[in-house]
Amino acid sequence: MLVNYKNIIDRELDKFCDELPPMSIYEPIKYIVELGGKRFRSSLTLLAADLFCGNPELALKESIAVELFHNFTLIHDDIMDGAPLRRSQPSVHQKWNVNQAILSGDLLYALVNKLLANSKSQSTEIHQLFQQTSVEVCEGQSLDMEFESKENISLDEYINMIQLKTSVLVACGLKIGALVGEAGPKDANLLYDFGLNLGTAFQIHDDILDVYPLKEEFGKQVGGDILEKKKTILLIELLKKSSKEDKVSIIQVLEDDEIDKNLKVKKIKNFYNKYGVLELAEHTKNQYFEKAIYCVNNINISEDKKQQIKAFAVALMSREI
Ligand code: IPE
Ligand code: IPE
Ligand code: MG
Ligand code: MG
Ligand code: MG
Repeated sequence: MLVNYKNIIDRELDKFCDELPPMSIYEPIKYIVELGGKRFRSSLTLLAADLFCGNPELALKESIAVELFHNFTLIHDDIMDGAPLRRSQPSVHQKWNVNQAILSGDLLYALVNKLLANSKSQSTEIHQLFQQTSVEVCEGQSLDMEFESKENISLDEYINMIQLKTSVLVACGLKIGALVGEAGPKDANLLYDFGLNLGTAFQIHDDILDVYPLKEEFGKQVGGDILEKKKTILLIELLKKSSKEDKVSIIQVLEDDEIDKNLKVKKIKNFYNKYGVLELAEHTKNQYFEKAIYCVNNINISEDKKQQIKAFAVALMSREI
C-alpha cells in the first residue's frame, strides 16, 4: 500500500519533469526531483484522501504540490546550511552555483503555486492552509539560522522552531488530503495534529541521524549540523547537562574555525556520548511519536485504517520507506 502511493507520486513527478521547458533554469529542478527521496509527505496526502473517499488520486495535484514545495525548501536549505551533499549527490548550489540555486528554488515555488491554482478542488481553506504553511516554514528556517549564534536555546524554543520548519508541512499535507477526501473538520484537524507530532518526531530523528547515521551511505554530510553550530536537540541537551569545565571546551571546539572538520565532529560526538544525550533525544522523539499515535486513535475511521496509518508512521521512523 505504502509503495503504491510512492509509485503514484514518482510517476506524476516524472511527468512533471518531462513537461518542463528546455531552458537551463529548469535543469536544477529536474535534478533535485529526479534524485528521488522518500516522498513521504505527498504519500501522506494521498493516504489521507484515500481514508475518507477511497480515491487517493483525487488529491494527486495537491500531493505533488506538497512534494515539490518540500524539494524547493531543500534547494534553499542546502544553501543556508552550507550543505555539499543532498540525496548522496552534490547539492544544487554545489553543482551549479548559489545564484542558480536561489532562482531555481524561487521558480519551483512559483510552479507549486501555479499547480495548486489549477487543481480541481478550488477550496479557499486548502489554499489558505498552504499559504500559511509556506509562511511558517520560512519563519522556522529563520529561527534555525538565528539559533546558530545563540548559546542558550531551551527545548521549548527548539520544538517551536522544528515544528515551524518541518512539522507544519507534514501536517498540512495530511489535512489537505483529508479535505479533498471530504473529511469532517474534527477528523481533518486530528490528521493535522497527527502530522504535527509525527513531523516533530521525524525532525528529532533527522537531528540524531546527522551524527549517528544508520547506514554507511547516509546521503548527507555526517556532522553537518555540528559544523554549522545548529542547535539540534543533541547540542541543546549537551549544553544543559555538561559540567562548567566541559561546557567551556565544547564551546571552544564549536567556535574553532581552524580545526579539522572530522576532528571537530568527533570531539563533539565524544561529548554527546559522555553525557548520554542520544538517549535523552530518543526519549523526546518517542514522546512525540506517542502523541501522534494518540491522534490517530481518535479519528473516526475503522480500526483497519488506523492500523494502516500507524504502519506508515512506524516505517517512516525506522526509515524503511
Ligand atoms: C529532509 O527531508 C528535510 C527534513 C525536514 C529533515 P526528508 O528526509 O524527507 O528528505 P527526502 O525527500 O526523503 O530526501
Ligand atoms: C530542514 O531541516 C528543514 C527544511 C528543509 C525546511 P534540516 O536542515 O535539518 O534538513 P536536512 O538535514 O538538511 O535534510
Ligand atoms: Mg539542512
Ligand atoms: Mg536546515
Ligand atoms: Mg538535518
